Amino acid sequence: MDKKATLNLSDGRSVEFPVLGGTIGPDVVDIRSLYGKSGMFTYDPGFMSTASCSSTITYIDGDAGVLLYRGYPIEQLAAHCDFIEVCYLLLNGELPNAAQKGEFVHTVTRHTMVHDQLNRFFTGFRRDAHPMATMVGVVGALSAFYHDSLDITDHEHRKIAAFRLVAKLPTIVAMAYKYSIGQPFVYPRNDLSYTANFMRMMFAVPAEEYKVNPVLVRALDRIFILHADHEQNASTSTVRLAGSSGANPFACIAAGIACLWGPAHGGANEACLQMLEEIGNVDHIGKYVKRAKDKDDSFKLMGFGHRVYKNHDPRAKLMRETCHEVLNELGLHNDRLFKLAIALEKVALEDDYFVSKKLYPNVDFYSGIVQRALGIPTSMFTCIFALARTVGWIAQWQEMIADPEYKIGRPRQLYKGAPRREAKPLEKR
Ligand code: SDX
Repeated sequence: MDKKATLNLSDGRSVEFPVLGGTIGPDVVDIRSLYGKSGMFTYDPGFMSTASCSSTITYIDGDAGVLLYRGYPIEQLAAHCDFIEVCYLLLNGELPNAAQKGEFVHTVTRHTMVHDQLNRFFTGFRRDAHPMATMVGVVGALSAFYHDSLDITDHEHRKIAAFRLVAKLPTIVAMAYKYSIGQPFVYPRNDLSYTANFMRMMFAVPAEEYKVNPVLVRALDRIFILHADHEQNASTSTVRLAGSSGANPFACIAAGIACLWGPAHGGANEACLQMLEEIGNVDHIGKYVKRAKDKDDSFKLMGFGHRVYKNHDPRAKLMRETCHEVLNELGLHNDRLFKLAIALEKVALEDDYFVSKKLYPNVDFYSGIVQRALGIPTSMFTCIFALARTVGWIAQWQEMIADPEYKIGRPRQLYKGAPRREAKPLEKR
């Protein structure tokens, strides 16, 4: 029997809506006919109770701390796959076999170079510009190089755009870093894996051979996997909304990068490390936890809390394990910030304020510490997040564009401004 929801209005009218069910997770009330039937809108700033779309890509159960990419638990993907396999999975819906992976890697590898004129975009920025500002500018500028050959209604064009973005983001992120430290750009190499290539572009210098450390490459590759997609978060919703107007994918991804930059979202890993540096040592934890609980203090524990996870963020646990591995590999197991983070997490998880509000460490809590240990500067953390999330943004964008039902996103509002009034000419005001 079809499930229904009925809205009974105080004027005696009642309006019925279909209830739609998915594979797993909450049902949704299909309210698309609400305005037509009742003359009213729903009101849900922040979209706390709103499903903006249907999707087959990622599923999160916030109460159970579950994250699935195309049905596969994040723990299993982190253990058995590399990032390029997860890219294939998110874009195509299935994990690749060896032949499919080989072909995918071959294509991605041959799109890692950027148009050489793109190098000049960097010289327009100050060296001390935040690398996320550079990223928004340069990724948006890719439209100037590929927009004329891009028909978003053409499946093949959408596919080539996906390859270009997945392949070129590491090159652009590494260029943003090299530009910020005044070192020459390092070109990609086709004989290296996706993540080894990125680490070499970040850390190699012309003066000597760069030695790839497979343990560190595996750790960063896993960090990419953990950040690859996350349902309809703020930046993904931004990419979808930008894409709903028919904007090209490079412009949409640039919009996603801009949204991700905020400290409440992808900027939290940078903010979290700055917070740990400010706390300094375990003796000061109490003072900062007190501030985080104070309604009159805007301070929040960065890397804690989540709109959806009201249990442990499964990525935070995997990130903590990765952090441990990297610090051990580098002989930094006594790293003071890692020890401080472990102590802070323990204090917060035993404090009633955090327990009652179901605030747990999220993906950003440990990612800054492990990236810092890998030699990545704090200002680059959100760029790394953007690099990894690009495949998720593209998969979500492709899913929307391929949906024959999709329309331009155009929310309404509750108007609380001035009623209609006459405008007086200047001499009468
Ligand atoms: C990411 O959406 C995604 O999926 C995002 C992401 C992804 O992969 O795309 O997972 C990546 O962005 C992770 C989140 C990174 N942000 C941070 O770590 C910043 C610190 N966290 C908070 O700003 C906050 O928890 C949010 C923004 C993450 C979630 O905010 P919500 O869901 O709007 O929750 P809220 O702010 O309404 O908090 C509920 C209560 C509030 O208290 P009350 O008003 O109910 O009394 O909890 C409090 C908040 O004040 N609270 C915190 C807190 N987070 C929430 N108090 C102290 N420290 C915190 N970190």
